[in-house]
Amino acid sequence: MKLLADRAKIPLPESDDPREKERTKLRQQVQDINRIAARFFYEALRSGQGEAAAEYLRKRGITGDTVRKFGLGYSYDGWDNLYEHLKSQGISDEAMLASGLVIKGSSGRLFDRFRGRLMFPIFDIRGTVIGFGGRVLDDSLPKYMNSPETVLYNKRKHLYALNFAKNNGGDQIIVVEGYMDAISLHQHGITNVVASLGTALTDSQARLLKKYTDEVIISYDADTAGQAATLRGLETLSDAGCDVRVLTLPEGRDPDDYVREYGADKFRWLANNALPLVEYKIRVIRKQHDLSATGEKIKFLSRAADVLVKVENALEREMYIKKLAREYEVSEEAMHSEVIRRTRPAAVRRTKMSKTVGTAGKLISAAESPKEKIIHGERFVLSLLCVDNSIYDVVKEHFKIGDYVGEENNRIAGIIYGRIEEGSGVSPAELMNIVSDGESGIFARILNDECHCDDNEKAILGKIRDIELMKTEMRRDQIIDLLKNKSRLSENEVDKLESELRELIQELKRIKENPEYGKERRGRR
Ligand code: GTP
Ligand code: MN
Repeated sequence: MKLLADRAKIPLPESDDPREKERTKLRQQVQDINRIAARFFYEALRSGQGEAAAEYLRKRGITGDTVRKFGLGYSYDGWDNLYEHLKSQGISDEAMLASGLVIKGSSGRLFDRFRGRLMFPIFDIRGTVIGFGGRVLDDSLPKYMNSPETVLYNKRKHLYALNFAKNNGGDQIIVVEGYMDAISLHQHGITNVVASLGTALTDSQARLLKKYTDEVIISYDADTAGQAATLRGLETLSDAGCDVRVLTLPEGRDPDDYVREYGADKFRWLANNALPLVEYKIRVIRKQHDLSATGEKIKFLSRAADVLVKVENALEREMYIKKLAREYEVSEEAMHSEVIRRTRPAAVRRTKMSKTVGTAGKLISAAESPKEKIIHGERFVLSLLCVDNSIYDVVKEHFKIGDYVGEENNRIAGIIYGRIEEGSGVSPAELMNIVSDGESGIFARILNDECHCDDNEKAILGKIRDIELMKTEMRRDQIIDLLKNKSRLSENEVDKLESELRELIQELKRIKENPEYGKERRGRR
């Protein structure tokens, strides 16, 4: 809304909440500081003292055009050059500290966070500088330092160079690990590249990518790519509806080395021949087993079946089954039945998050996973609570902070509950300020389409009942799933699961038979 309003030059009504105003002001201040600092670093790179950094960049083959495009700079090797510069521009100590560019020593003295480093401004999608990374010019450690979390910067929510890559993707975006990898590929004309900056991909980043592309190619170092955290990140991407492929470079190379040695065409060729995530996962697993031993081969094939079960498309699944069976000389039927044995009942099979999640204004499709449905229900609860603060008691009774299945919903609830508890109340407009950019479209739609109820208390109780029902069903299905592989469980575990299952089934019956479930449960407590 803010983006569109700015573009159309229509003022948005401002929140009345003084703290919200304070925060908006602080964001603006930190933005200003970042802009001044980026210019300061950029100019320092061209000064005599920046010569070593400029030489370092030349040695790595970075051109002047690239330096300009990415706004690269240098932080002087003194204690407080930036601090003094910002001060001379009339910036308060408090605002500087909030920007993360300045830190307070134990003596109380303020000094620069980045000293003697090559500086990389981090831009958001619109090209605003939201933070910085700084690299040493030698082999000392830590190699990189990044801005801390600030009012503008959250490393889990941004991708480096997405501002440049977003419109160049066409049908794919390549994700690399490092600043230098992204910059180097851009310089070589491969401009659909972003960097994840050394952390596993998060849910927010996955949704962000999905807005701009359907196909994501991961190009990490061989050793990072195989790590469990990385694989989970790739799974997150795939859950967000992206077609994920993995590009493996020769051992010991990163994209920057590779493109400099072999050129852009070779790199593009590798990108176009990247392995689909499923095949890549199977390859990673295969490396962990010595296939000459029969026991190991069986272990490998059953782990491969665990992977194949998640392939949604039946034709694709069959294709992989065939391929594996042929390659490892087992019958197709045996492989097939291993996979089928692992499938869940149709109703609860994990489906990809619908393509529309996170896209403003669109309908949420019926193919949502149960978890997504619960999260969506929770969003309704939070929205209606902002429309009508009087249902707070009912809501709080059923959802403590931490009870929300959606991680983001817990954060939002924390803020809303706080406002209501202290008596200042909270309105739908304020909710729109609290929710993240990625989810604002969804919340706007819920507020618009779903929150006009004749009786808010009744509506909220109904939704609470739905959510309880879904949660209970989800846990039931999990347990049924676990119990399918009894051989992997101890007797004690089986007993525990079976007794939990019995209780869940009772609970389900109670919920289903009682339309006033939420109300009744309140009474029981
Ligand atoms: P070069 O060594 O200059 O080629 O860097 P690179 O961009 O190739 O980085 P590398 O592959 O070593 O690491 C990938 C990314 O992880 C970097 O771009 C940083 O964002 C992050 N990273 C690497 N080392 C550190 C570190 O010591 N501290 C922090 N906070 N981040 C790091
Ligand atoms: Mn590198």
